[in-house]
Amino acid sequence: MRYPMRPMRVEDVPQANEIDRECFPTQWPPPSYKKDLLFSMVTHYLVACEEQANPVMEQTEKRGPGLSQLLRKLRRPFHTEASASNQRVVGLVGLWIMAGEAHITTIGVRGAYRRQGIGELLLISVIELALMRNAQVVTLEVRISNSVAQALYEKYGFTKAGVRRVYYTDNREDALIMTTDTITSDSFQSRFQWLKRAHGERWGLAQRQIDI
Ligand SMILES: CC(C)(COP(=O)(O)OP(=O)(O)OC[C@H]1O[C@@H](n2cnc3c(N)ncnc32)[C@H](O)[C@@H]1OP(=O)(O)O)[C@@H](O)C(=O)NCCC(=O)NCCS
Repeated sequence: MRYPMRPMRVEDVPQANEIDRECFPTQWPPPSYKKDLLFSMVTHYLVACEEQANPVMEQTEKRGPGLSQLLRKLRRPFHTEASASNQRVVGLVGLWIMAGEAHITTIGVRGAYRRQGIGELLLISVIELALMRNAQVVTLEVRISNSVAQALYEKYGFTKAGVRRVYYTDNREDALIMTTDTITSDSFQSRFQWLKRAHGERWGLAQRQIDI
């Protein structure tokens, strides 16, 4: 199974909210994805989708579409051509970029899809997005108790840069601030490229060119 990455669309918001409720059940207020997608110039969201093989479509492509199919296709509004409605979103990541600093605002994978390399794919993609947007460092906050997420970030060279006391309002938990070195530096890049290759070989989750 491949999990293509692409920018989040407004049609994905209900699924993004579902993932949020599953990953961060006590978070309040929930993120306003729709507002960010429509109005924010600095916030970016990427989603990983389950790629579903469509045997009917494949057969049609081999024979060429029939007239009724062509007419149906022409009648469909353009934006639903690759509509999210028939794509299951399995994970998402959010990035906020300001003054050369990229801040990961959220990252989550549906419970049933964890430990298959998707969290790593999201992190790789968002670091690439930060690079494309000329950010110098990537930073984030993570719960002190969230050792799973910390392990993922440490794997990609994030180190502990400080603590924000009583950051999470639900249980007054502290947040650890984790930050990369300069992401364009040779040392970061050689590790990052190596990890990317290793991830590709292990999971075969080739990244699709993200159109941003
Ligand atoms: C954190 C999260 C995104 C990881 O997603 P995932 O798809 O399961 O992660 P991957 O399969 O890509 O694993 C990548 C790395 O993460 C770490 N990791 C993931 N699951 C782990 C676990 N159960 N125990 C320890 N380390 C783990 C490992 O370093 C792993 O690399 P490895 O396979 O070489 O050991 C996922 O657990 C999640 O959505 N958690 C809930 C939301 C959350 O806590 N988000 C972070 C907010 S700061």
